[in-house]
Amino acid sequence: MSDRLYIFDTTLRDGEQVPGCQLNTIEKIQVARQLESLGVDVIEAGFPVSSPGDFSSVVEISKAVTWPVICALTRAVEKDIDCAAEALQYAKRKRIHTGIGTSDSHIRYKFHSNQEEILERAVAAVKYARRYVDDVEFYAEDAGRTDNEYLARVIDAVTKAGATVCNIPDTTGFRLPNEYQEKIAYLYEHVDAFAAGKSILSTHCHNDLGMATANTVAGVLGGARQVEVTVNGIGERAGNTSLEEVTMIFKTHPDLNIETNINTTKIYATSRMVSSLMNMPVQSNKAIVGRNAFAHSSGIHQDGVLKNASTYEIMDPKEVGIDDNAIVLTARSGRAALKHRLHVNGVDIDGEKLDAVYEAFLRLADKKKEVTDDDVLVLAGAHRADTHNVKLEYLQVTTGMGVRSVASIGLLVANEHFEAAATGNGPVDAAIKALKCIIRREMIIKEFTIQAISKGSDDMGKVHMQVEYDNHLYYGFGANTDIVTASVEAYIDCINKFR
Ligand code: KIV
Ligand code: ZN
Repeated sequence: MSDRLYIFDTTLRDGEQVPGCQLNTIEKIQVARQLESLGVDVIEAGFPVSSPGDFSSVVEISKAVTWPVICALTRAVEKDIDCAAEALQYAKRKRIHTGIGTSDSHIRYKFHSNQEEILERAVAAVKYARRYVDDVEFYAEDAGRTDNEYLARVIDAVTKAGATVCNIPDTTGFRLPNEYQEKIAYLYEHVDAFAAGKSILSTHCHNDLGMATANTVAGVLGGARQVEVTVNGIGERAGNTSLEEVTMIFKTHPDLNIETNINTTKIYATSRMVSSLMNMPVQSNKAIVGRNAFAHSSGIHQDGVLKNASTYEIMDPKEVGIDDNAIVLTARSGRAALKHRLHVNGVDIDGEKLDAVYEAFLRLADKKKEVTDDDVLVLAGAHRADTHNVKLEYLQVTTGMGVRSVASIGLLVANEHFEAAATGNGPVDAAIKALKCIIRREMIIKEFTIQAISKGSDDMGKVHMQVEYDNHLYYGFGANTDIVTASVEAYIDCINKFR
């Protein structure tokens, strides 16, 4: 008999904390619905006291989602807990996730406190949260670097105060897998509530040293029965444990007797949707969902796979929802086919919005033979530019080898038309210089990445850009079959975010 492992998804909380990955409430609802159809057990929907936007996202996700538990984060502070309880009022199943730092460094430098006082605050927060909800999760921030004996005292006390789940974050991604496994096993052995089935242990691993997934699996082997993960492993710094990796590790290793509720065939679409909405590219060699994850390029491997896929494939790409025969849209596809593809990818639109996306789809299908799921997701996200103050009207660039590139550009700024021209050492340089003749601000490009969406020379290019202005960093995104236009769109996206 397998043990059930609960999947706690924090894409919309820890994942969304990444600069440039912020979503609006409508987008968060889209992701939450997709997570529900994927089969996650818990959705951490936000940190309600942190901003009115986070508060309303937790409210709206609570209304939109039926089956998963909706969880809201707090510090061990009464006003945070009050706020979380209010934000969760519409959730059918709800959880408050409260906690405090327990490592020496957090106790000394963050709280200027001592171990006994922190233990009391932890217990008080859990008791206070239990006044609102039956399901309270406690996190011991920086548990990875917290002394095991003290950690066990805190965890024992909070379980006695009513914590139904105890989260042991390796906040800095420092622990080695065997050390993390020992920590979880130590807590399992020294805190009665776990063996008694009154509480469960949860892993929450960060990827600073590339060990998040290994640590999470080690934690499960040590006795944890909930894992905290994000889609594509997004999250602060090097990110969190990735949902798809953990899920597929237990699926491909049935001997471990751990099962999840994840419908793995929805993994790929979920990954694409999160990447597209959050403007966060997935590295090509990312396990499970990277473009090359199932691409065999060497002759020996190709030969083996053609003879029998099991020679070099440990899982069937179809198991994670990668289907080479998936329907592609063409210029002859109708509105209904487009609407259906969007729906399969978790985007439900109708009426004027569908008309606008369909128009954009036809324009793209004219340039590209086949329009993929990734393309339609980008098109569906393009309406975000509708409310922009600065819009690109036209762009013309002449470029070639041995000549300087020349660009002329037309912009609408607050509905007023401006034009400029400039030369540069390449087409993007010329276009950005022309744009800067109109928008005269001290802006510096800090990061600039171009990625093809799927394959082929007619593909759309996605551009992610980071621009520094007035000591702040702004993140922008653009997508177009013309990468110079996509670059300018990404630059303009940054400008539209200037405060
Ligand atoms: O990494 C961490 O410690 C966290 C907690 C707030 C749960 O995200
Ligand atoms: Zn975290």
